[in-house]
Amino acid sequence: MLSINNVSLRVEEKDILHNVSLDRKTGKNYCILGKNGSGKSSLAAAIMGHPSYEVIDGDILLDGKSIRDMEPHERAKSGIFLAFQQIPAIKGVKLFEFLRTIYNAKHDADERFIGFKKIVLPLMDELGIDEEFLWRDLNVGFSGGERRKVEILQLKLLEPRYIILDEVDSGLDVDAFRSVATLLSSLDSAENSIIIITHYFTILDYIPVDHVMVMQDGKVVREWSLELVEEVKEGGFNW
Ligand SMILES: Nc1ncnc2c1ncn2[C@@H]1O[C@H](COP(=O)(O)OP(=O)(O)OP(=O)(O)O)[C@@H](O)[C@H]1O
Ligand SMILES: [Mg+2]
Repeated sequence: MLSINNVSLRVEEKDILHNVSLDRKTGKNYCILGKNGSGKSSLAAAIMGHPSYEVIDGDILLDGKSIRDMEPHERAKSGIFLAFQQIPAIKGVKLFEFLRTIYNAKHDADERFIGFKKIVLPLMDELGIDEEFLWRDLNVGFSGGERRKVEILQLKLLEPRYIILDEVDSGLDVDAFRSVATLLSSLDSAENSIIIITHYFTILDYIPVDHVMVMQDGKVVREWSLELVEEVKEGGFNW
């Protein structure tokens, strides 16, 4: 279980989250809604341990233990994965080496060139990613849809328990959206928990959520079951 207990967050001397709490249970999925600038991505950054986001109060616990002092890569190894709102590109790092490194780190493995190729190629085939992408720099010149698919490839390799999807449904064409949403829904299982941050609602037809929360000005202002989505669809964020 991943618990966010009364977390307050500061970035660049600015307080951006105030007493935010969320208990994530394995097997349950969550949705976070809220206006632009309400603090959704900042909460995701805090869970992942982004160094600019300073937790000034409260705590984040994984299976009962504080992860506040853990580095982002240690959190990733513990099973937390953040799909970024904007996926970065890294020049000089080949996709193959990047994937091999994160796979070996997560699984305490030592897969070399041939061994890892045998692991990654079938997954790429399943996702419809061309093998030539492996030899390109990470995400450099990849389209939005291609970056998303590469991110799903990472999810498949890492098999995280706690997945945060920060607006992964933005910027995709109709077909790419359907394909990405279908792939993501195939990852949903009783062994993991997905948080969906979104401004749209169609993705919720693919990944069912058990609990919905609405953020406003860095606070959680409303929490309910899926019915809260209907309320927001009809009335917006006017509380
Ligand atoms: N690195 C940063 N430096 C300065 N201010 C920041 C930083 N990160 C977030 N903020 C501020 O914190 C507030 C919350 O931003 P955040 O990105 O979490 O919102 P969001 O709910 O994800 O919005 P959106 O729906 O537009 O993605 C905003 O006012 C933003 O300007
Ligand atoms: Mg955001």
